Amino acid sequence: MIRKILKWIGIVLGNLIGLLVLAFAILYIIGTVKWNKLHGKYDVPVEMITISTDQASIARGEHIATIRICKECHTETLSGQFATVPGLVTLSIPNLTSGAGGVGDTNTDEDWVRAIRHGVGHDDRGLALMPSRVFYYLSDHDLGVLIAYLKSLPPVDNEMPPTDLGPLGRVMLPLGQLPEAIVPNVTVIDHYAPRLVAPKPGVTVEYGEYLANT
Ligand code: HEC
Repeated sequence: MIRKILKWIGIVLGNLIGLLVLAFAILYIIGTVKWNKLHGKYDVPVEMITISTDQASIARGEHIATIRICKECHTETLSGQFATVPGLVTLSIPNLTSGAGGVGDTNTDEDWVRAIRHGVGHDDRGLALMPSRVFYYLSDHDLGVLIAYLKSLPPVDNEMPPTDLGPLGRVMLPLGQLPEAIVPNVTVIDHYAPRLVAPKPGVTVEYGEYLANT
């Protein structure tokens, strides 16, 4: 009798584990297809802007990199950083300088605009976590001086593996369990939305509104 019950429990458990493995495998496949699409290649319209090279613009650009919190993610030297939660996610916040592993050496002006404003990287991939949906509304002037500053950065070597989702992250994606912020912004930006002309910096309602919107 006991033997029969044990055998029965064994069969039920075996089936349950089998079902769980199957569910994991299915979610993993759906998650991988979804992730490859989200983090895949995008073709977005890029309008070129003027990028000055004078010292005053570069200084203003550094100020913008600070208040727009670029440095909080990309680090104080903008040479990037890397974090990994084993099995879940490998997150590389890119090196923006012209040192080894940085995009600064090869980026064209168009590449900078595409990444910051549209959330699409130098390799045409949708950028995860990078908050371009807010940077989209930076005025042409502010974006221009910001890029002037990025192009002036001293080179720092920092090579990192690319951003990727681990098996657990891929399973969590179709279940809607990944933080919203990780989803590449390119999918939610209206790439044709009009941008406001930035009002003159100062203690005015207009400038306050511009800061709040971006
Ligand atoms: C919340 C963190 C965060 C903030 C804030 C942030 N970034 Fe990023 N940025 C990222 C991550 C993460 C990536 C790479 C994502 C990937 O590889 O999928 C990225 C990618 C980029 C890239 C693309 C590099 C390439 O591969 O072509 C550029 C350029 C960039 N960021 C510039 C900026 C600038 C300029 C600012 C401030 C205006 C800024 N970022 C603010 C997280 C951030």
